[in-house]
Amino acid sequence: MELLSTQHLLKEAYDPQNFRDIGHQLIDLLADHLEDAQTASKNVVLPYKAPEDELLFWQQHLQSSASPIDTFKTVLEHSIHIQDPRYMGHQTATVAPIASLAGLMSDLLNNGTGVFEMGPASNALEKLVTDLLSSHVGYDANASGILTSGGTLANLTALLAARKAKSKHDVWQDGHKNKLAVIVSEESHYCIDRATRIMGFGDDGIIKVPVDKNFRIKTTELENHYRKAVENGLEVIAVVGCACSTATGSYDDLEALAAFSKKHDLWFHVDGAHGGAAVFSEKHRHLVKGIELADSVVIDFHKMLMTPALTTALLFKEGKDVYKTFAQKAQYLWDSPQSEDWFNSGKRTFECTKLMMSIKVYIILKTYGIEVFEQNVNQLYDVTKDFANMISERSNFELLTLPEANILNFRYVDCKLEQDINEINTAIRQQLIEAGEFYIVQTTVGGQKYLRCTVMNPFTNKDHFKALLNEIENIGNLL
Ligand SMILES: Cc1ncc(COP(=O)(O)O)c(C=O)c1O
Repeated sequence: MELLSTQHLLKEAYDPQNFRDIGHQLIDLLADHLEDAQTASKNVVLPYKAPEDELLFWQQHLQSSASPIDTFKTVLEHSIHIQDPRYMGHQTATVAPIASLAGLMSDLLNNGTGVFEMGPASNALEKLVTDLLSSHVGYDANASGILTSGGTLANLTALLAARKAKSKHDVWQDGHKNKLAVIVSEESHYCIDRATRIMGFGDDGIIKVPVDKNFRIKTTELENHYRKAVENGLEVIAVVGCACSTATGSYDDLEALAAFSKKHDLWFHVDGAHGGAAVFSEKHRHLVKGIELADSVVIDFHKMLMTPALTTALLFKEGKDVYKTFAQKAQYLWDSPQSEDWFNSGKRTFECTKLMMSIKVYIILKTYGIEVFEQNVNQLYDVTKDFANMISERSNFELLTLPEANILNFRYVDCKLEQDINEINTAIRQQLIEAGEFYIVQTTVGGQKYLRCTVMNPFTNKDHFKALLNEIENIGNLL
C-alpha cells in the first residue's frame, strides 16, 4: 500500500536508496577508521572530555544541522578507539570487522530470536555455536547451551539453575524457605555477588573465600568456610570458580573445586567470561583443566573471542538443566512449557526478545575457521608475558604478579619520600587518559592502587608497551 503523501517522513526513513547511499559512506568511514586505528596513526585513543562537557556537546549537536554521515563522523570522533593497539583498558573485544557487518545485518533484520519463527537462522545458529563451544569445553553430547546478553546475566542464569537443581525447596514455586548461599573466591567478579543478592540470599548468602599470593582461591580454606556456613544454618548450593578473575587474570584450580563440589553435592559453576576462551588454545588450555567437570560454564564471545558485545554463551553439562531454570507458562508463545524444544530459545533465557547474537560468531567461524580463536588467545596471552618482562626490567616499576592471561597490573614506584604511591599512580593514570594517547585502567588490590592493562588488540606490540612505559615515566617524573 502506498504511504499517504502527508507521511513523507516515513517514506524517507524507509527509502532503500537512502540506506544504500548512507551505508556505503558509513562503510568507507569505518574502513578508513580501521586503517588509522590499526597503525595507531591518530593522536588519540580516547578523545577525553568531562562527562558534563560531553553531554553539553550532544545537547548542542541535536540543535544543529548535520547529515547522517556527518553525525556518524562526529560519533566516531567522540568515541574511544578500541581498534587502536594503544587501547589496553577494559576487557572489550577488538571486534573482527566481519562480525560488525553481521551486527549491521542483525540490526536491520531485527529477528527477535526468542521463538523459532522470530529468528529461524538465528536460533539454529545458536544451537550450532553453543554445541561447538560445548565440545571445546570437553562436554559430551548431553550438554546444551544458550546465548544471552552478557556475562552478568549468564552468571545469574547459571546460579538460578543451581538453585533449581540443589535447593531442598523449590524456590521458583514456593519462595524462600531456607537461607541459601554460594561459595566464591574473594576475587570473583562483582556480578556473582550481585546475582546472589538478586536471588534474595542477602549478605550471608555469598561466602567469599580468601585467595593465595597469586590471587587464586585458597582451596585449603573451602572445607572450613563450608562447615561454618552449615553450622550457621545456611544451605550452600553452589561453588563458583574464576577462569580467570577480572582484576588480576588468575585462574582458580578448577579440578580441586570440582572435587569439593562433588563431595558436598554442590553445583559447580565456572565463570569463564574472560578466560574460558583458553579452551580454544592448545598452548593455554592447561589453565582451565577441570572446566569439563563443571555443571555450567559462562564464556563471553565479546571479550576474548573477537565478537561485538553482548554475546555470551552459557553451557550446561546436563543439557536438560537449561530447560528447568525458567520453566513457566507463556501460552501465547509456545504450547507446552514442559517440552524441550531447543529452537524456542526464550524458554531457556532471561530475555524474551533477544538479539541475533549467533550470526556474529558464526560469520567469524565460517570465514576464518575456529583456529582464529586459538590465534587470538595465544597472541594476546603471549604478548602480555613480553610486556611483564619489559616491566620487570625497569627498576622504577613494580609488577603485582606474573600474568597467566592478558591482564597485567603494575605500578610506578619511583616516588619521592613524601609522595603517596597510590596518589601518584592515580594521578599518572588520570593524566595519561586525559592526554588520550593511551588507554589503561586502574584497580585496587589489598588497598594499593595499580595501573591495569588488558591487552585485547592483536596489533599491540612491544613498541606500544615501550612507548606506554616511557610516557608513564615522563608523567611520573613531572609529578
Ligand atoms: C570474570 C568476569 N565475569 C563476568 C563479567 C561480566 O560480564 P559482562 O560485562 O559481559 O556482563 C566480567 C566482566 O568483566 C568478568 O571479567
